[in-house]
Amino acid sequence: MSDIASTLTTIQADAIAAITAATDERSLDDARVAFLGKSGTLTKASSVMKDLPKEEKPKVGQLLNQARQAITAELDAKREALIAEADAKSVADLDLTLPGRTLPTGAIHPLTLMQDRVTKIFRQLGFALATGPEVETEWHCFDALNTPADHPARNESDTFYFDSGKLLRTHTSSVQIRTMEETAAPPVRIIAPGSAFRRDEIDATHLSVFNQIEGLYVAENVTLSDLKGTLEFFFKSLYGESTEVRFRPHFFPFTEPSFEIDVKLTAAGKDAKWIEIAGCGMVDPAVFDEVSKARGNEAFGSDKVTGFAFGMGLERLTMIEYGIADIRHLIENDQRFLNQFA
Ligand code: PHE
Repeated sequence: MSDIASTLTTIQADAIAAITAATDERSLDDARVAFLGKSGTLTKASSVMKDLPKEEKPKVGQLLNQARQAITAELDAKREALIAEADAKSVADLDLTLPGRTLPTGAIHPLTLMQDRVTKIFRQLGFALATGPEVETEWHCFDALNTPADHPARNESDTFYFDSGKLLRTHTSSVQIRTMEETAAPPVRIIAPGSAFRRDEIDATHLSVFNQIEGLYVAENVTLSDLKGTLEFFFKSLYGESTEVRFRPHFFPFTEPSFEIDVKLTAAGKDAKWIEIAGCGMVDPAVFDEVSKARGNEAFGSDKVTGFAFGMGLERLTMIEYGIADIRHLIENDQRFLNQFA
């Protein structure tokens, strides 16, 4: 009896020493198995029970239980201590007084903002959105637009050509041709935003990749006053009712007569001077003739329809609206610049 009592005292002391020495959950579990596991020391000691005289059994049983409870309690306490210790370690370097990290939200680029506004105004007037390829044929970009082979714009020093003979479109006017080729019959009323490419030296007002917005209206009896009314309405909608718009005679191969449009912004905070903003004109009959030849029918015959076309630079429209002095700001992705539009 006293034998078993002292054995249990030793086992309990050994167990507590092993538990105390455990440095992580793994070594703690090893200790649990060593004493309380199936062939653990305490489990083995319990096997004396079956050989004990009946009257000693309750007392020894009680001692065994006490030892098991004491070891279990020690294991539980140590496990909690280890978890607390690990938690404390993981937050030791955490400064809860630091401000949180804000996730930056995206915003629409100023060029896209402007393009959306422009298309919205024209859509209100019944113009539909149209697109065309950036890699274009010479025919769509030049020939069909009445631009002769010796025109400077067709020079290799002005235009990016591919070995195939195709090119990067120098203007969105090619979409005029594509739309008239593909539309069953007039009327055609489209607005076509998109990129254009020129071998320009990059400076404060020029990029070699830029964006234009093309417009085309073809129907019976479209007149120059339709052109003027539409574009005056557009620029006043865009820049404010007090905006002045003037048309200066100009030359484009694919329109006749042709004009350049200047605007003067009189709204507060704007620089009130005339700024060249767009090219436009009445579609040259030679363009309808080329389109008719390609279509093989006279739906767009030059004796049937008339039309007006216009083209403007998206970057220019945007720079005027926001007072941006250098076009390169628009492509440099400098957050200090872009955040002003967010
Ligand atoms: N395509 C011309 C340009 O890039 C602009 C324009 C378009 C002029 C339509 C007249 C009509 O300069």
